[in-house]
Amino acid sequence: MTTAETQSGLIDKARRVLPGGTFGNFPGDIVIREGRGGRVWDENGKEYVDFLLGSGPMLVGHAHPDVTAAAQARIAEGTTFFANNRYGIELAEAIVAAVPCAEQVRFVSTGSEADLYAMRAARAFTRRDKILKFEGGYHGMSDYSLMSLAPKRPGNFPQPVPDSAGIPKSLRDEILIAPFNDLEVAAGLVREYRQELAGVILEPLQRIIPPAPGFLEGLRRITAENGVLLIFDEVVTGFRLAYGGAQEYYGVVPDLCTLGKVIGGGFPLAAIAGRAEIMAHFDRSAVGDDGFMMQVGTLSGNPVAAAAGLATLAILQRPRAYERLFATGRELMGTLAELLKKRGIAAQVTGEPPLFDVVLSPEPVRDYRGTLRGNADMMRRFNALLRERGILKGEQKYYVSLAHTPEDVRYTSNAWVSAIELLGT
Ligand SMILES: Cc1ncc(COP(=O)(O)O)c(C=O)c1O
Repeated sequence: MTTAETQSGLIDKARRVLPGGTFGNFPGDIVIREGRGGRVWDENGKEYVDFLLGSGPMLVGHAHPDVTAAAQARIAEGTTFFANNRYGIELAEAIVAAVPCAEQVRFVSTGSEADLYAMRAARAFTRRDKILKFEGGYHGMSDYSLMSLAPKRPGNFPQPVPDSAGIPKSLRDEILIAPFNDLEVAAGLVREYRQELAGVILEPLQRIIPPAPGFLEGLRRITAENGVLLIFDEVVTGFRLAYGGAQEYYGVVPDLCTLGKVIGGGFPLAAIAGRAEIMAHFDRSAVGDDGFMMQVGTLSGNPVAAAAGLATLAILQRPRAYERLFATGRELMGTLAELLKKRGIAAQVTGEPPLFDVVLSPEPVRDYRGTLRGNADMMRRFNALLRERGILKGEQKYYVSLAHTPEDVRYTSNAWVSAIELLGT
């Protein structure tokens, strides 16, 4: 530790030097000092059960000794080379062995990049331009992805609503939007635009909304029938819903997927993976100048990140790792649903055991517009009450860690009881 600056001093400093006083990811009213296992501490020394998990990467817990040792060993030998390194090659091999659609892998540094290049690969392979995405689906920050992620006033399908200033108007013509879990609408659009459509991209578990029975299977069928690529964004679900990701968990195999978060073990690393004939478009010698898609990145396949990722995957492969993760998540989801019900608060606890949240709505949530029917004010208050009680989470997600202990679960239940007591009063 260098200076003993207080949290409020750091917050003031952040307000001066960072727009909005934050890195842009999370409110700047908290500064995290350190994390271990399923807990983090802020700069005031206040302890939290951590369901933010760094927005997902820390599935095996903060500062896991195996991951730390693997990263430290690499750091001592030099931290980046641009050329191939052993750890990146071995991580690619591990991804190919684990993920059903993955015959080959291309590394990048962030999930946003992975999604951008997956869409580019679909365009290069099909020689068509348009991409279909689902309203409320998140695929990172590229101009193409930031369409109808969180429209305040949802538009008419399939017209996209850009989520950000600075997105060229012309790109609106390249993206089609459909409602999640509505196979009929998506299938209609795939058929109507088949001559122009390169791919359909989706989060198989969209934020915290599971796919309705038959939805993923139907998309697989309709895209295959029309020569359109199916892209699963598994930046969140990869190695989390199962070792083979959502495609293993839900039993539907896409043409391409993107991975991030868990595979970097807490360091910046992400990937595009998929069928070899599509991945060939990253290789000029395989497809020639016309089909070649340009893609380079200074830190792609970084050895520290790859070694941390490999150490993380080794932990996830231990016996009963996913059983334990799911048991913790199931207990948390069940407890939260029961407590809200007892208090008479209309609520849907939704997601899958490794990641979930509640939507304070009387109706089941099937799509983005369903989430808008939730009581957002009460949700904000709930999250704020939980923060006061030592629970750290994102606005709309509890990420469960393999490192969360029965004591963490008990602590969380007590915080829920006390916060729910005050909700609606
Ligand atoms: C489903 C999904 N795709 C892509 C991304 C973007 O990843 P990154 O933040 O690494 O750019 C995220 C980030 O949360 C995500 O949740």
